[in-house]
Amino acid sequence: MSRKKINIGLFGFGCVGQGLYDVLSKTPGLKANIQRICVKTKGKTRSIAEHHFTFDAQDILNDPAINVVVELIDDADAAFQLVSEALRKRKAVVSANKKMIAEHFQELLTLQETYQTPFLYEAAVCASIPIIRNLEEYYDNDLLESISGIVNGSTNYILTKTGSEEISYQDALKEAQAKGYAESNPELDTGGYDAKYKLQILVAHAFGLIVKPEALYHHGINELGPLELNYAKEKKLKVKLTANAFRNQSGKISAFVVPQFIRPEEKLYQVDDVYNAVVTKTAFADTQFFSGKGAGAHPTASAVLSDLSAITYDYRYEYKKRGSNDSLEQDQAIKLRGLLRFSVQDASYYARHLNTIEESYANQEEGYFTGEIGLNNLRKLQQERKGNFNFILLSKN
Ligand code: HSE
Repeated sequence: MSRKKINIGLFGFGCVGQGLYDVLSKTPGLKANIQRICVKTKGKTRSIAEHHFTFDAQDILNDPAINVVVELIDDADAAFQLVSEALRKRKAVVSANKKMIAEHFQELLTLQETYQTPFLYEAAVCASIPIIRNLEEYYDNDLLESISGIVNGSTNYILTKTGSEEISYQDALKEAQAKGYAESNPELDTGGYDAKYKLQILVAHAFGLIVKPEALYHHGINELGPLELNYAKEKKLKVKLTANAFRNQSGKISAFVVPQFIRPEEKLYQVDDVYNAVVTKTAFADTQFFSGKGAGAHPTASAVLSDLSAITYDYRYEYKKRGSNDSLEQDQAIKLRGLLRFSVQDASYYARHLNTIEESYANQEEGYFTGEIGLNNLRKLQQERKGNFNFILLSKN
């Protein structure tokens, strides 16, 4: 097979941009050359010679010799402008920007079709785990029943450190930032937004359902308190932030991001630090398990590299399942078993929103119920936010 030679215009030279530069220089087999790098900040000392850089995006977008744009900047709105313009100019694009992709999924799909140009983003979900291309190719039929897992490296790192090594939440977050795992606004990680963007992308490729990210329920780890951490310790459970999507019997899709108690016998229990993992369940193969580093310069760059390699043979996502599932399951039909923490004065308010109560506990300030709750009620509680509220999933019913 003859492979295209690629000339890259790179946007961004932060953690992943530098990682890509490094990884490409160690992959001589791939005929790819970084022709120009566009960066924002002038006067910054950089690890490679100045002549590689420009501050003008048009130097890349208008250069006919550049046939591939790699977008690795932080600002999702600016990224969308650059990616759209590159696709309109029929330059293939590789991006790792999950926020931008999730927020503009349909527009980006239309651009790919209108201009018949590849747009690949394996690095946007679970960094080094090749999950999108697997969903597109291996799982290109309707046998996939569910996909779930840990899709954010920073929160897994924080939860691992605070859980087993007893490092404080703030220190663990600082470490995740120093290692280049966290978003520049770490609230995107700890608040569960980053995991939700990734889930939106997974749902599109796994089930063909394209929704706005706001349609998916998410709950982060930034409200975890001693009550639920002690509960985990006593019961020998770990807490992980999980993204979950499954097709129910009527063919509708349920999808949400929540902190979850994980039992030692579950596959996700051993997935610690910056590792991510995905568990798929299909009608005939039962479960399959993928794991790999979910953040950081080189693991993310390795996925970008794989996309670049795919572009050399004109690979494109076909979105084969698009339209096969028309809607998300209504929230009231989704029942979750979990632990709900509350301030004691609000106990009866919270009790009213649960379908069943299995266990309850309260001290003078706060307490918890375990039991079943509809996702519609969980969404309502999150919006109303009375007092000291948190939710951790025990199991999906
Ligand atoms: N902040 C993200 C994470 C980076 O921690 O998973 C990789 O997408």
